[in-house]
Amino acid sequence: MTKRHSYVTTAIPYVNGEPHIGHALDYLIADVWARYQRQLGKVVRFQTGVDEHGNKIAAKAAEQGIAPQAYVDSMYGNFQQLIQTLNVDTTDFIRTSDIKHRAAVQYIWQQLEKAGLFYKGTYEGWYCMGCESFITDKEAAENNGICPDHNTPYQRLSEENYYFKASTFTTQITQAIESGKMRIEPDFRKREFLELIKDGLADVSVSRPAKSLSWGIPVPGDPGQVMYVWLDALSNYLTVLGYPNDTTWQDFWPADISVVGKDILRFHAGIWPAILLGLGLPLPKVLLVHGHITSGGAKMAKSLGNGVSPFDVIDKYGVEAFRYYFLRYVPTLDDGDFTWERFEAAYNGELGNDLGNLVQRVAAMISRYQAGVIDEPPASKHDMGPYRNAMETYEFNRALDEVWVIVRALNQYIDRVKPWEVAKKRDTDVEAAAHLAEILSHSSGTLLQIADLLVPFLPTTARAIHSTFASGVVPDDIQPLFPKVHIYTPDPRAQKAS
Ligand code: MSP
Repeated sequence: MTKRHSYVTTAIPYVNGEPHIGHALDYLIADVWARYQRQLGKVVRFQTGVDEHGNKIAAKAAEQGIAPQAYVDSMYGNFQQLIQTLNVDTTDFIRTSDIKHRAAVQYIWQQLEKAGLFYKGTYEGWYCMGCESFITDKEAAENNGICPDHNTPYQRLSEENYYFKASTFTTQITQAIESGKMRIEPDFRKREFLELIKDGLADVSVSRPAKSLSWGIPVPGDPGQVMYVWLDALSNYLTVLGYPNDTTWQDFWPADISVVGKDILRFHAGIWPAILLGLGLPLPKVLLVHGHITSGGAKMAKSLGNGVSPFDVIDKYGVEAFRYYFLRYVPTLDDGDFTWERFEAAYNGELGNDLGNLVQRVAAMISRYQAGVIDEPPASKHDMGPYRNAMETYEFNRALDEVWVIVRALNQYIDRVKPWEVAKKRDTDVEAAAHLAEILSHSSGTLLQIADLLVPFLPTTARAIHSTFASGVVPDDIQPLFPKVHIYTPDPRAQKAS
């Protein structure tokens, strides 16, 4: 891995339903970082994909009366479509039913087996199919036997499995986390995880009898056993790079940043590093843990009927608005809420009024008063420190706040210096024309800087602002960036008219 390379990964969603806003969040956060790295001149490899094995997917296929492979073949395209619609600029998309992935995971299994890291044992305990997770007795008791995330009772299992000796790596993993060699961001999630493993990592079941789990990767040399879906899924971060055969994986591993939701941190901070250490490979540098999106304060769930389709939001307001809301109103490292009303208010207010109108009015004044010609823009005087700092600490919502500080300051500046009044004075005051040119070049220079800062967040808007002002001549046909939409909030113009 050279310094010029950067590898960004996202969790791979299960394909047992349509993609929802939560999946979009993983992709968006990773995309901001990937675009930011590219701006800094890095060569970025950006993995996404889908998790296609496991019982809950097999159950969906059975419901539809089709084979699991046919079912996943019909589903993965929805996630690719989401990635495209979100304008997420990835380099790789992995499917875990892919034959290359399957062979590479079997290789990984064999390496861990050679290292003496497996033993056979009987698993007596609980399982949640929704989480595809083994549940400790303590956790089952705390939740009264019902998964709080899926609202379904845990299954009782008694079966022969292979166990992986994750416990062997407790000290190494704890040290890697404590020393920041594998950073967990934010800090409170790091502390939570360290607390969880303070008595040591438990050995983990990594296979299930084929009769209980038929849809998965067979254990090499033991046809009676199928690999546990997490071993299969976690390995995607390596197999997608061509591990072990194609040596280019070495240019990108270890991942610089792995974006995961808070519910799956324990798999990424516990099992995955143990597998990597078992293979003799370095650990990801940063696990970036985001929170969950709620809807009107409640957990978004199909069963509650408050699930929101990302496609629905994008149809109404466009992808840039979607990116804006979920990157600013959902704190990158914590939970955040969505309501249609708040979304629409942010769209009309911050994107429409603050930014869209600003671009429009500066461009219109340059056209009207200077036939579209901009004087040399002066170097911007804004302090970029807070923005850079927010980006480096992965608080992308704070970075957007900083951009809006500049947007608002420019609006206030224009309201204060009133270029339209300066324009009126040009016939009588010789200095007025130069003053006006200065105001407008300062404004367009600041907008170009805003565009630069928006590149990771709103790439299309950034490009539109850039092409309006960067050439020095404002084109005639500037379209409004964010035309008003009033579906969920009253239109003030309508109230005035009545
Ligand atoms: N297949 C596993 C991940 C394997 S990664 C090697 C999985 N899939 S998932 O579909 O359940 O979740 C995929 C991602 O979506 C996770 O990062 C999860 O946290 C995220 N989200 C699912 N629902 C969410 C919200 N309501 N809000 C934000 N993100 C959430 O787990």
